Amino acid sequence: MTHIDKVIFVCSNNSFLSPLAEAFYRSYGSDDLPECISRGMVVLFPEPINPKVNMMLVAKGEELSKHGNTVELSEEDLTDYTCILTMTLSEKVKVMEKFKTARVFTIGEFTKEATDILDPYGKEDEVYEEVFDAVLKNVKACIRRIKTINGGVGMIALGSDHGGYELKQDIIAYLEENNIAYNDYGCYDSASCDYPIYAKAVANAVAGGECTKGIIICGTGIGVSITANKVPGIRAALCHDTFSAEATRLHNDANVLTMGARVVGPGLALKIVETFLNTEFSEDERHIRRISMIED
Ligand code: RB5
Repeated sequence: MTHIDKVIFVCSNNSFLSPLAEAFYRSYGSDDLPECISRGMVVLFPEPINPKVNMMLVAKGEELSKHGNTVELSEEDLTDYTCILTMTLSEKVKVMEKFKTARVFTIGEFTKEATDILDPYGKEDEVYEEVFDAVLKNVKACIRRIKTINGGVGMIALGSDHGGYELKQDIIAYLEENNIAYNDYGCYDSASCDYPIYAKAVANAVAGGECTKGIIICGTGIGVSITANKVPGIRAALCHDTFSAEATRLHNDANVLTMGARVVGPGLALKIVETFLNTEFSEDERHIRRISMIED
């Protein structure tokens, strides 16, 4: 998936789910995000959106929807870089067939939640509540994913000692295959050397803003992690599984990943790198507060 310049949330008739997703996107997204509209697969005649959308938004203290009457998705809505997000797989298939575009995903597959969001029409209030929460959660995850796609991952600072040198070469190959820019701060061969030199070089490059994130490898990942974390502004996370790599980006906004080449094999290490680089910070208030409580 390349750059996104427009987001269209699509549901069956643009009455409840897609205007709700659009309202959340406007409230929780920042100004640098692509524009967003919502549409329906089939809208026989335009009518006001379901009043429950605004009733529920008001009840939860959210901003009101700015969407007017229901509108059917049409060719004119699409740009070359539109990303269409449907609520269900069958809507996705219909959009693909009708508009001959591959830039359409179910909201669940886009956010990796992988479940359809079903229209609660005619169901009890509790079902509406559950769906409301599911849409909010998914839209927040969509925003994070769009930011990652549009922002790229920036310049990566790499470093290792002799113990991590070979694994660093695998990481370099991965970054090159994926067109990710990097700067290698050494070491440059497998002769025995002192890990703090390279850990400090990477940490300084990230803290100084020359690079967006860093990856440092030694035998265990521990020495480089301890060293990097002494540099103000660095939150280095030692990760040997993808769960931790994802969680540390979501919760700690970690800006340096460290691994031990004597602990993980290259296959897992590359998955950890992929997860670390492609997960955006959650921006949740509680995590921002906790990070601000970490003293440099
Ligand atoms: C080098 O033998 C080893 O001590 C180093 O790579 C690292 O594991 C330190 O934490």
